[in-house]
Amino acid sequence: MPKPPVHVTITGAAGQIGYQLVFRVASGQLLGPDQPVVLRLLEIEPAMKALNGTVMELVDCAFPLLADVVTTTDVNTAFDDCSWALLVGAFPRKQGMERKDLLQTNGKIFGPQGKAIAERGHKEIRVCVVGNPANTNCLIARSAAKGVPPERFFAMTRLDDNRAKAQLALKAGMPVKDVTNLAIWGNHSATQFPDAWHAKIGGKPATEVIEDEAWLKGEFLATVQQRGAKVIEARGASSAGSAANALIDMVNSLRHPTPAGDWVSVATCSRGEYGIPEGLQFGFPVQADGKGGWKVVEGLKHDAFAQEKIAVTTKELEEERDAIKSLLGS
Ligand code: NAD
Ligand code: LMR
Repeated sequence: MPKPPVHVTITGAAGQIGYQLVFRVASGQLLGPDQPVVLRLLEIEPAMKALNGTVMELVDCAFPLLADVVTTTDVNTAFDDCSWALLVGAFPRKQGMERKDLLQTNGKIFGPQGKAIAERGHKEIRVCVVGNPANTNCLIARSAAKGVPPERFFAMTRLDDNRAKAQLALKAGMPVKDVTNLAIWGNHSATQFPDAWHAKIGGKPATEVIEDEAWLKGEFLATVQQRGAKVIEARGASSAGSAANALIDMVNSLRHPTPAGDWVSVATCSRGEYGIPEGLQFGFPVQADGKGGWKVVEGLKHDAFAQEKIAVTTKELEEERDAIKSLLGS
């Protein structure tokens, strides 16, 4: 008996990331090789023509798992019966901007989407926010989605996690698959803290494999924090292939049990773990149980350097939250 299709909503589906994502979701890379999907693609009117072209290409792929494609400019139609909401649609930053410069423009997109998610989504809906500034947009959507448990909302720090693992692997001369226990703390922004101090390479502490503290505290941190800006500088457009890939990784990590002893990076609604103010959408190390549940890994110790970095990214998230207070549902 084939499984009934699962509805996956992708907002901003005609954009750069959307264009990478739709084919991967339709081919089974998001929900598995035996799970049919209905794609629900939300766009704004000016992008509908391009979106229709993408739909022609989806048809031309003859994906066995693609049960249907719905395109719409209506936020309610977009989230009808949706089990996985991938909130990508938002304006990307240009060279010279920080992601938080997008707060006022993009923030307004996420309240109505949160409301529609609550009113129209599947009762088990999971929401993953990519559109920048991702953590605070996720907070806006979450606060508008009355009745949807906060633990169903995730903002993407997985691209930072993948970037950090790749940099450690390159420095160590080891395969990237050997890098584990990497955590991205805080905001998906230049204040994030990529934590190499709990990471392992080939099962050993990364700090024993890479005995170059100056590099870890300097070049490594800066490379990961600034990678998005460097990609924009080089491509003239923000990362898209790697962002879509990170989103696929993130959903798979939430769907499957985290390997014993390891963790994955995702920004979740703080319940006060590590002293982070409750309600901030904060990047933590997380373990998933493979049944839809997850928990923040607790008990990791931070030295003064890490504590200072985590304080800086916390403060930035508090400032972002305060700047969009008027967009938060009461
Ligand atoms: P893009 O400009 O190529 O595409 C964005 C799409 O969103 C456009 O097609 C636009 O028409 C659509 N859109 C705008 N408002 C919308 C709305 N209200 N409803 C539905 N769709 C809407 O941008 P992109 O490169 O695909 O990036 C999308 C977002 O993802 C940006 O904010 C970017 O900064 C962010 N991003 C985040 C990460 C991350 O790691 N969290 C990584 C890369 C990019
Ligand atoms: C990234 O990290 O590549 C994205 O958030 C895009 C950006 O603005 O840097």
